[in-house]
Amino acid sequence: MKVTVFGIGYVGLVQAAVLAEVGHDVVCVDINAERVENLKKSIIPIYEPGLTPLVQRNYEAGRLQFTTDAAHGVQHGRIQFIAVGTPPDEDGSADLQYVLAVAKTIATYMESPKIIVDKSTVPVGTADKVSACVAAVLAERGVELGFDVVSNPEFLKEGAAVADCQRPDRIVIGTDSPAVEEKMRELYAPFNRNHERMIVMDVRSAELTKYAANCMLATKISFMNEMANLAELLGADIEKVRQGIGSDPRIGYHFIYPGCGYGGSCFPKDVQALVKTAEKVGYVPALLKSVEQVNYRQKDKLFAHVHAYFDGDLAGKRIALWGLSFKPNTDDMRDAPSRVLMEKLWAAGAVVQAFDPEAMNEAQRIYGTRADLSLMGTKEAALRGADALVVCTEWNAFKAPDFEVVKEHLKHPVIIDGRNLYDPDMLEAYGIAYYGIGRGRSV
Ligand code: NAD
Ligand code: UGA
Repeated sequence: MKVTVFGIGYVGLVQAAVLAEVGHDVVCVDINAERVENLKKSIIPIYEPGLTPLVQRNYEAGRLQFTTDAAHGVQHGRIQFIAVGTPPDEDGSADLQYVLAVAKTIATYMESPKIIVDKSTVPVGTADKVSACVAAVLAERGVELGFDVVSNPEFLKEGAAVADCQRPDRIVIGTDSPAVEEKMRELYAPFNRNHERMIVMDVRSAELTKYAANCMLATKISFMNEMANLAELLGADIEKVRQGIGSDPRIGYHFIYPGCGYGGSCFPKDVQALVKTAEKVGYVPALLKSVEQVNYRQKDKLFAHVHAYFDGDLAGKRIALWGLSFKPNTDDMRDAPSRVLMEKLWAAGAVVQAFDPEAMNEAQRIYGTRADLSLMGTKEAALRGADALVVCTEWNAFKAPDFEVVKEHLKHPVIIDGRNLYDPDMLEAYGIAYYGIGRGRSV
């Protein structure tokens, strides 16, 4: 099938490549000309396992094209995906300007009927806005063309985006039209084998499903962080509690890992956006507001530990930091807990020596060159001459370090672990002071 994807970010690029891989003919349109030119040379704008060869081979096979030519993109696909960003606006609501700009572009150039697919995460009622926008432009042009707007939210996780798109656990389609459902079934047939993964519903329910999924996951995390904070005060170990509750299949082991707060481009913005949606219809979302508040506090946790360990005297201290990305297997630092920690350390006069397996360029892009940040080439180099080590991201490379080396390099043998990677008893045996999240001891 001929498909067009507007927006070549995490979602658009991965979705386009995965569709091309099964034989669809995909044109990707972006307004970022540098990104488009780079992609033609197989320079991929993001780090995502498995993505580079997938893009390269489908581009070379001619099934995947990249362009800034919106008119060409609109002519190409019967199906037009909107996969652009929906960042928070000033009050935290989802900013729909990019989505509506694409809707306008499609309406401006379309010469035949189109199925317009909202792939971006958008508030309930957005499909109606997209429809109204397309209808208004067509009316201005004085042309009568049929079009449908479908909600098809994306559930991929960064760091596992290719695998998630190739083997989705569900494909949610919001439409009332049997003809559109049939076309979407045809498009996704290669991903819907062995058992039924398509869940077809009305548009508004599909739009809400996306926010409900992310908010449920964020709620699980904030709940566990709250339990971890309690465990710390009560002398219990949250890691034992996690196993104790996760073994109940009604609770499950997934997404109950306590830590230094959820980050990334989605949970923070989507919880906030659903709070705003609720308020606009006169509902007070008490639970969601608490989820946000607990997370906000949790991101302070690592700094609070460092601050307490050094009795508030952080001026001139050098802090080794392992992990800058908001989670492993990505270079994405949007809303990463590491950023909150670094900014607080800098404000207190400390210097950060950081290492991340993939996010060093991103950190350089965000912070540039500054005297209180050294981006180091290895995790060992980050330790040299440092007063303490803080772990922010659970990359595999940090899971089994040589603790003798860690101890030797640190001026104060102390590890503050935002991801509970290590065994407190083992570190005690090494003579390293250890503070995890909710592990029965406070600094
Ligand atoms: P992104 O910021 O990585 O990419 C967005 C792209 O859209 C950019 O390349 C930008 O240049 C382009 N763009 C903006 N305006 C455009 C226009 N008028 N025409 C063509 N291109 C345009 O965004 P993302 O992380 O891929 O997220 C996209 C949407 O998907 C958001 O709503 C997000 O919430 C949702 N989502 C993201 C993820 C994720 O893991 N990142 C997962 C599920 C859903
Ligand atoms: C999340 C969802 O998992 C995806 O299903 C969704 O499509 C996506 O948001 C989106 O809408 O964009 P992502 O943000 O890529 O995916 O990453 P997650 O693995 O969900 O992690 C989010 C944050 O929660 C990370 O900071 C992670 O460290 C934290 N987390 C996760 C915990 O603190 N504890 C856990 O148990 C799990």
